[in-house]
This record gives sequence, structure tokens and C-alpha cells, in this order.
Amino acid sequence: MDDDEEKEKEHFQRVCNSFAYYRIHTLKRVARAHQNYSLLPSSHQKILHDFLPHLERIKEAADANYRFILQLLVASRGMFVNSGMTDDVVPPIDPVTGRVIDESVPLASGVDMDKVTTTVKQFYRDWSIEGEAEREICYHPIIEELQMRLPLSSERPVSVLVPGSGLGRLAFEIAKLGYQCQGNEWSMFMLTASHFMLNHVKGTNVYTIHPWLHHFCNNLANEDQLQTVRIPDVDPHSMPKGSHFSMAAGSFTEVYTEPNVWDCVATCYFIDTAANVLDYVETISNILKPGGYWINFGPLLYHFADMPNEKSVELSYETIKRAMLTHYGFQLIKEVTNVPSTYIQSPKSMMKMTYNCVFFVVQKPFHAS
Ligand SMILES: C[S@@+](CC[C@H](N)C(=O)[O-])C[C@H]1O[C@@H](n2cnc3c(N)ncnc32)[C@H](O)[C@@H]1O
Repeated sequence: MDDDEEKEKEHFQRVCNSFAYYRIHTLKRVARAHQNYSLLPSSHQKILHDFLPHLERIKEAADANYRFILQLLVASRGMFVNSGMTDDVVPPIDPVTGRVIDESVPLASGVDMDKVTTTVKQFYRDWSIEGEAEREICYHPIIEELQMRLPLSSERPVSVLVPGSGLGRLAFEIAKLGYQCQGNEWSMFMLTASHFMLNHVKGTNVYTIHPWLHHFCNNLANEDQLQTVRIPDVDPHSMPKGSHFSMAAGSFTEVYTEPNVWDCVATCYFIDTAANVLDYVETISNILKPGGYWINFGPLLYHFADMPNEKSVELSYETIKRAMLTHYGFQLIKEVTNVPSTYIQSPKSMMKMTYNCVFFVVQKPFHAS
């Protein structure tokens, strides 16, 4: 195994360990709440007679989430069969205690545990009926434009790339319609989760999870924290025979370098994951066929902004647009700004974050100028 493969294996191991620590991590959070409660004056504890029962219910819900995560972990064995990574990457877990059996496995960091809890929420967005309203606002217009600009015909297939595909629902829906669709994802957390959903889950409403269990704030009622969703709302195995659907792991700009291959690139809540968004614009301009379309929906919450040691350049939409049109020669076909949209937003939370997204369709010129 060379250096890069060794590093990749280590990273995947860290991701698996983080999933494995979900239960312990959640129980620690509950224990902290319990401890703080026990420090209250007993008169206050008496008033809060439903507090400890609520914590018990959180623990039960954590067990339910953990049982689901264990399935995902087990399914990740053999996920990278061709890459030199072996089964030993997934830590051995005692299913009763939820403990990682090998004590030498390092504890997961807070940042990694945030990624685990976000992944749980991502299942709400992509694979629950409750997430449909959120998906409808951003996935639907992308699919509608795709069908209008590049209608399917029996003469030639239409290829669509979805970079930053998360848990894969948008790419799945596009492939289900008959397009040749590839999702691309860089995060091992997302890849492990989407691999499980797309390759191992059969049927609908197979699992019940509590996506908002880690939201200790902004709850109108205790029940809101314990809300459940059933997943998946659609059978991931319902793809018609002969469909062309694949997922490619790796960073978008590194994986896709071959010019003039794709009929369409569809990006949803993705372009702001770049430290330099022009890298994405340039890659898309390169890999689209002449006359191909780029359909984008999302905000500009630059992921690397203000991160230490990251060379993030935060451009406004107008600046990106000017570069797309004047430098890269894209033609603006459609543009809607200020489209209100949410992203893994708990419907009942007392705090709501709404993005005013931009939705655009641009076309690559047929001839280089
Ligand atoms: C905000 S999420 C959006 C996910 C999905 N498109 C959706 O709308 O639910 C951005 C996704 O892009 C992925 N991502 C970030 N940088 C990437 C890169 N360089 N190449 C591929 N994917 C990347 C992240 O891991 C994450 O899953």
C-alpha cells in the first residue's frame, strides 16, 4: 500500500470509528444534562418532574439511531474492495454495549461526531417523506429544467453529473427518469451512508430514525426532539432495469478532468464547498460537451470561509456570474434569485434558517471563441 492509500485507509478508519462512537457520544451528552439537572436545587428538580423521563427517552432514541448506524457500518465492509482497503477498517463492535471492542481504536473528535449527526439528519432530507417539501424546492426545478433542455430520446443517451451528491437522492431521481447519471461525492461520511442506502436497503419505511435528537435547543415540546422519520420513502431498488446510475468517490476537480464528456452538470447546494469557486466553474466548463448545460441551485455559504489555514476566496454571485459569462463564455439561459429554501431544517424547530438561493441554467458555447 503506498502512502496515499495508507492515508485514505486511516481516514476511512476514522470515519468508521466516528459512526461506531455515536451511542457513546450521545449518552455522554445526556449524562451531562443529567449531571447539570442534579446540581439544581431540589425544589427546582421537583418542578421539572418530567426532565429525567425525557432524558431516558432520548437514550432509547439514541439506541434506535445507533442500531441504524450499525447497519450502515456493517454494510461499509467491502465498500472499497478494489482499493486495497480491507474489512479490518471497520472496527469490531459489541452490539449489546455498543462499544468498540478494540480499545486501541482512538476516540472520535467533536468535529467528526458533528459529521455523524449531520449524516443522520441528511437521511431526513434525502430519504424521508417528511423531507419531500425541502427536496421539492431545490431538486424539482433542477429536474424540470433538465427535462426541458435535454429531453430523453431513443436516439442517444443523455449524461448527467451530480457533483457533491450527498446521500444521492437527486442523482437517483435523475437516473430513474432514464438519464445516464453519476453522483460524485468526496466525504467518506456521505459515501458510507449513500452506499448503504443505495446498495443495501430494499423496500420502503425500513428504518425509523430520530434526526433531531441532538437538538437540545429551540424545542417547543420535548416530543420535538424525539420526532421520528421512516426511511426510505422510496425503494432504492426501484430503479428500472437497464438504468445507468453510478457513484464516483473523490474530489470533483480531481476526478473529472476529461473534456467535453457530459451533457449536463447539476449542482445543488454544492458550489460553495470550494475554496476557490472558479476551480469548479472551470472544471464544469471543461467537462461539459459543447452546448451542454450547467444547472445550479443553492446559496453561497462558503464552507472554507474563515477557517484557519484555508485559502478561501469568497465571491459574490454577481462576480461568479460575470466570470462564467465573460471569461468562460457560458450563455445565461435562466436565472432566478432569492428562492427561499432550507437545508436539513427541523420543521418544528423554534429556529429556522432560510437561504435565499440562486437558481440558474447556463449553456456552454458550441464553439470556443
Ligand atoms: C451542502 S452538501 C449538499 C449535498 C446535496 N447536493 C444536497 O443538496 O443535499 C455539499 C456536498 O458536497 C460534498 N463535497 C464537498 N466538497 C466536495 C468536492 N470537492 N468534491 C465532491 N463533493 C464535495 C460534501 O461532502 C457534501 O456532501
